Amino acid sequence: MTAPKHFLQLKDFSRDELAHLFARTRWIKDQFKRYTPYHPLFDRTMVMIFEKQSTRTRLSFEAGIHQLGGAAIFLSTRDSQLGRGEPVEDAAQVISRMCDIVMIRTFEQEIVERFARHSRVPVINGLTNEYHPCQILADIYTFIEHRGSIEGKTVAWIGDSNNVCNTWLQAAEVFGFNVHVSTPPGYEVEPERAGLYGTSHYAEFADPMEAARGVDLVTTDGWTSMGFEAENEARRRAFEDWQVDAEMMRQARPDALFMHCLPAHRGEEVAAEVIDGPRSVVWDEAENRLHTQKALMEYLLLGRVDS
Ligand code: CP
Ligand code: NVA
Repeated sequence: MTAPKHFLQLKDFSRDELAHLFARTRWIKDQFKRYTPYHPLFDRTMVMIFEKQSTRTRLSFEAGIHQLGGAAIFLSTRDSQLGRGEPVEDAAQVISRMCDIVMIRTFEQEIVERFARHSRVPVINGLTNEYHPCQILADIYTFIEHRGSIEGKTVAWIGDSNNVCNTWLQAAEVFGFNVHVSTPPGYEVEPERAGLYGTSHYAEFADPMEAARGVDLVTTDGWTSMGFEAENEARRRAFEDWQVDAEMMRQARPDALFMHCLPAHRGEEVAAEVIDGPRSVVWDEAENRLHTQKALMEYLLLGRVDS
């Protein structure tokens, strides 16, 4: 049996594969908007394992596989043996004999890596402490829809150097764009944890206003990611000057977009006037989770399908 292809980090896919996914996304989204049924995954089953909460990821994968003709099964730590300490390797053996594709949202990246090593079917990372590759697929696709190629552009990441930030940095290497990162002291990027090949695609700025100057896109995320709730109060204090507000957006190019993976906290990492303002594309970004992940599932299960 040949080893299945997985999507565990953004850099698992080449630029060429990602370009293919985006071409398929465009076509699949178009069919969906025309109410044209497209069921290439008829009879296929996805198992979705959630060890953390979710709205968008669960909904987009569950609706997505259904729209492609397949079905989804939801498992959570609370109501499966995973929550009672069954080894990940054993769970992978069993689950992957009963379904065609698996999506996992969990804590350490090492858990999805171990699951994938013991899985007979493709495994998708639906968010770990280190990475959120499905989110950045949707984000880059959304940027391209609004502004064309992202190559050579500059993105400002304001706030925590978390899983979403790490994945933006991987994407910068794959697609050839730049990221200006501004975090409070003590929350800087850890290049090894981010899985970077080098450091030439990003620069760190102590001042978030400086980071936003002249960029094509400003993006941020909540100050406390899932699993880090004990640090909530300390983070709230450390991050108070890292809110994306109208003044910060004025530093960026006049046509700069604003993105946020959501859920958002108005008055914390983003001002309401920005996320609810004319440069915000957060709802397109959320919707594109559905379309990009349908293309991802098609590719992992069927390989290259021509549009
Ligand atoms: N952006 C995102 O992954 O949202 P959920 O946590 O709701 O899945
Ligand atoms: N960085 C956030 C993303 C939520 C979608 C978290 O990990 O909680």
